[in-house]
Amino acid sequence: MVKKILVIHGPNLNMLRKREPEIYGSETLFEINKKLVQKGKKLGLAVETFQSNHEGEIVEKIHEAFGEVSGLIINPAAFTHTSIAIRDAILILNIPVIEIHLSNIYKREPFRHKSMISDIATGQIAGLGVDGYFFALDAVFKITS
Ligand code: DQA
Repeated sequence: MVKKILVIHGPNLNMLRKREPEIYGSETLFEINKKLVQKGKKLGLAVETFQSNHEGEIVEKIHEAFGEVSGLIINPAAFTHTSIAIRDAILILNIPVIEIHLSNIYKREPFRHKSMISDIATGQIAGLGVDGYFFALDAVFKITS
């Protein structure tokens, strides 16, 4: 059975390339997702990607992952700093969870220093740009192997 890995992107990440490229880079989310699926195939993992600007949709997507998915990679974007609902949904899953941020949230405004999920995630990658997603996939592969 091929293991499924879910990658969730939170609000405004659909605007990558147009959105503050000096912070978030010039690659589109479409390109990133395509490469994640390709890398997953090479590792023998079925990568599914999902983006939403709505907190409840992200919560529901995490619920759907229950019992179906072997690992979660999540950039909750602005919800990182606010969402108890996403934290609680992640707590339902008993799988490796990698929190990822394109930017180094600790080098930025104080309100970005607090993550609602960092203490329940398996690990966190921040500040390495798009590469962080691929490192996260390597980590999930290693942890689940
Ligand atoms: C982000 C950092 C968040 O503070 C911000 O709200 C985002 C993106 C990142 O990937 O660096 O939307 O999660």
